[in-house]
Amino acid sequence: TTAPLVDPFQRAISYLRVSVTDRCDFRCVYCMSEHMTFLPKRDLLSLEELDRLCSAFVRLGVRRLRLTGGEPLVRRDVMTLIRSLGRHLESGALDELTLTTNGSQLARYAADLTAAGVRRVNVSLDTLDPAKFKAVTRWGDLAQVQGGIDAALAAGLDVKINAVALRGVNEDEIPAMIDWAHARGMDLSLIETMPLGDIDGDRTDQYLPLSLVRARLAQRFTLNDIPYRTGGPARYVSVAETGGRIGFITPMTHNFCESCNRVRVTCTGTLYMCLGQDDAADLRAPLRGSDSDDRLEEAIRDAIARKPKGHDFIIDRRNAKPAVARHMSTTGG
Ligand code: GTP
Ligand code: 5AD
Ligand code: SF4
Repeated sequence: TTAPLVDPFQRAISYLRVSVTDRCDFRCVYCMSEHMTFLPKRDLLSLEELDRLCSAFVRLGVRRLRLTGGEPLVRRDVMTLIRSLGRHLESGALDELTLTTNGSQLARYAADLTAAGVRRVNVSLDTLDPAKFKAVTRWGDLAQVQGGIDAALAAGLDVKINAVALRGVNEDEIPAMIDWAHARGMDLSLIETMPLGDIDGDRTDQYLPLSLVRARLAQRFTLNDIPYRTGGPARYVSVAETGGRIGFITPMTHNFCESCNRVRVTCTGTLYMCLGQDDAADLRAPLRGSDSDDRLEEAIRDAIARKPKGHDFIIDRRNAKPAVARHMSTTGG
């Protein structure tokens, strides 16, 4: 058997995020410019290549696989990939196969996802106000996303809602979102906006520290820190009044890189060892260069051996440029 993937800071890499497409049917204001340029389709890895790549990581000890984007469910025939990856759940090699989605296509795919072995999905939803939702996503239809969430719940999926905390946009709505999510049995994770890629506006205006949000929530709800963890960076509290959980993802106010367990691959086969650093490894060449996976596995090991300690994100008017030029939709979060 092969040695598991361990980085220079003794962190075991057990979680792979794969951006299956950089495209998205929305253009969230904190994520993309309205006139976003996407990669030419010819640069994308095929679904077979993505499968081979994921399977190599599973062989090297990855236990959790999360498909992201862009919007993963706008990739053509993505279910073929998901069904195929489901075999690693059946064999016991993989603990979890999940997606992070904007929910726009969930009504169509929910039942297929369950059938493929997916047990939970994270749905990004920043506001419950239809007009604000349209403004944040630049044209998204809230009812469509809510229909997708209902379909996912009806199909038996655990759904977690991800909301980026945005100053002056959804900050007043957070208690209502908690009530709404918890009434449906869904956890809600709040996220601090990170300086990735050019957007049309100024990120300083959008940034809302979750330390402040938590203090405000504590005046309304009884919050208790709980040890509950998923594979991700969120720290959870339980809410006595609702019986539900809130996750806090705080890259800006409380760095969690020390316990990082993950790397990410883009839809062109570039491996990023950290969401907030530029260093990357090309896996497409070793993937295409040979039918054997030896060189691919070697390239993965070499890359993990130089995984950086963490990000150094700053959101500050004096730092007008984003910390890294690529967008979240390229790296997949
Ligand atoms: P769970 O498995 O449900 O815990 O998922 P997750 O929270 O790891 O992933 P999700 O795709 O729901 O991402 C939620 C937010 O966390 C997004 O804004 C991600 O970009 C952010 N996030 C996930 N992993 C990392 C990471 O390694 N570093 C940083 N800085 N942010 C991350
Ligand atoms: N900072 C924080 N979160 C972001 N997301 C997209 N862009 C950013 C950003 N710059 C969120 C999406 C989705 C998740 C994958 O990342 O809302 O929930
Ligand atoms: Fe699309 Fe998600 Fe980015 Fe919004 S945050 S534009 S839904 S990839």
